[in-house]
Amino acid sequence: MEEVEFIWLNGKFVPWKEATLHFLTHSLHYGTAVFEGIRCYKTDKGPAVFRLQDHVKRLFNSAKITGMENLPFSEEQMLDATKQLIQKNNLQECYIRPLFFYGYGKMGLDTKRVKIGAGIAAWPWGAYLGEEGIKRGASATISPFKRHANQVFAQAKVSGIYTNSTLAKMYALNRGFDEAIMLDSQGMVSECTGENIFLVSDGKLFTPDENNILLGITRDSIMQLAKDEGYQVEECEVTKETLFKADECFITGTAAEITPIVEVDGKAIGSGKPGAVTKKMQKDYDDVVHGGLSKWDKWLDFVR
Ligand SMILES: Cc1ncc(COP(=O)(O)O)c(C=O)c1O
Repeated sequence: MEEVEFIWLNGKFVPWKEATLHFLTHSLHYGTAVFEGIRCYKTDKGPAVFRLQDHVKRLFNSAKITGMENLPFSEEQMLDATKQLIQKNNLQECYIRPLFFYGYGKMGLDTKRVKIGAGIAAWPWGAYLGEEGIKRGASATISPFKRHANQVFAQAKVSGIYTNSTLAKMYALNRGFDEAIMLDSQGMVSECTGENIFLVSDGKLFTPDENNILLGITRDSIMQLAKDEGYQVEECEVTKETLFKADECFITGTAAEITPIVEVDGKAIGSGKPGAVTKKMQKDYDDVVHGGLSKWDKWLDFVR
């Protein structure tokens, strides 16, 4: 990973290598941290964070859902700290990772009176599934690890829950696939390990409904952009059969952006190449995040 100069930790900008925590940090033992993944892009008007307010809102909602109370910083302070961090590190494009955690001082599962800490890191991070993945498309396998059935947690980005995603991801990588598609407890297509999923059939977009997925901010952006392009978009239950019969498939996420899935478990999806709708949505998204479609500048938080 590419290191930069500073990390924001508990209200202070500290040198990257000094942003360390005690071994008995509560969240390290019990998986109780909540976090976000955000991206900042280069635009003509300087670096801009994509949908920063929505990400910070989701971070605070994740804390609420998991009962993490009395956070030491407000939404406004987290927004400001994020932008200052990008400036201080002189970054044009980066990935941003804010996180609230239960700190050092008390062990056991009772989180009352455990001190809450906060940090934000930002660093350059290229294409999550590789440039080839974005251009030529990635492969996926259906994971035997199901999406967490607890609906409450489906809406929260809690660190402990990601053990499931890690198992699914490693299952895929160890078998030569790029990503894992997780099913929900009913066997319906849910999402990938860190991305939502879209299918295209007869020019119409389909995506699993909100029952058992993380409500991705990229997913929401793509739904709005696709509707604006005149495509019909339907949120519904998606079976494995619908996936295999689809003309196109792509996944969306802050890290993975818009990545075509061209093959699942060795079977080609559609032509086995990124399809026209996928390419159109990739182009729109790329334009929007780089400030090339002024209509959507409301989603950009300029750093300077
Ligand atoms: C499980 C999961 N699903 C979907 C997503 C996509 O969400 P977003 O588009 O907000 O990054 C993520 C990434 O945060 C994720 O971890």
